[in-house]
Amino acid sequence: MAHIIGSLMTSHVPAIGGAIARGVQGEPYWKPFFDGFDAVHEWVNHERPDVVVVFYNDHGLNFFLDTLPTFAVGAAPEYRNADEGWGLPVSRPFPGMPELSWHLIESLVADEFDVTMCQEMRVDHGFTIPLSLLWPGKGPWPVKTVPIAINTVQHPLPTAARCLKLGQSVGRAITAYPEDIKVLILGTGGLSHQLDGTRAGFINKEFDRLCMEKLVHEPLALTRFSNRRIIELAGSQGIEILMWIAARSAMTGRVERIHSNYHIPISNTATGVLLLENRVAAQDRVAAAK
Ligand SMILES: [Fe+2]
Repeated sequence: MAHIIGSLMTSHVPAIGGAIARGVQGEPYWKPFFDGFDAVHEWVNHERPDVVVVFYNDHGLNFFLDTLPTFAVGAAPEYRNADEGWGLPVSRPFPGMPELSWHLIESLVADEFDVTMCQEMRVDHGFTIPLSLLWPGKGPWPVKTVPIAINTVQHPLPTAARCLKLGQSVGRAITAYPEDIKVLILGTGGLSHQLDGTRAGFINKEFDRLCMEKLVHEPLALTRFSNRRIIELAGSQGIEILMWIAARSAMTGRVERIHSNYHIPISNTATGVLLLENRVAAQDRVAAAK
């Protein structure tokens, strides 16, 4: 059976992709952010996931305001990136895993999530930058991917409670997948930031810290916030915390925090990374015996 090894949540600011392209990760502005991934690399290289299921939001590359599904699941053999106008190099294509995608789609629809099915889907920086952070370099991607896009652009947006249930449904579906594979869940976006209007540049460290804490053992607590309240507290683009909630909620075992890092600012955004391990009963027995 498939096994969820953990959940990684990270920001996906386009400027991060620019820093990677220019090779300036060691410069003072960037170092506190990129250093936060050393422990992530160590864990990922040890755990070696076969597939990543990525909760992210599209910013206008594949979906635009005219047609914007609330939840969309990729079911393609390959996902391509394209120029979004940020001046970033176009990423090499990502291998898909259509058989897992269709399993997730069937399970989600049976679970009353009427998702949009995408047999062709371009993935934007919300998807490509976190993958580049996890696996730096230019070689072939060492994992297959399944993108799940959540609308955080065109209101009305799904609630935190709905995204939590989506994550739970995805988690149940993965653990029912018959193939013996290791699955890592990604949630990308946030943390607090606002790009436009009179509150442009808004950051709320206290609320970000609260979210990063509650996500570990008490994600349900975040569902008491309405989307309007999240936007008040985290900024209009800070609503991207919805993807973190979905990714956390896909975990099915005992959750343990492996690593976290929080850094302000990257391009007017509060950035964070949170790595949670999903311990199933057998792993707990091994850990207890050590
Ligand atoms: Fe974003």
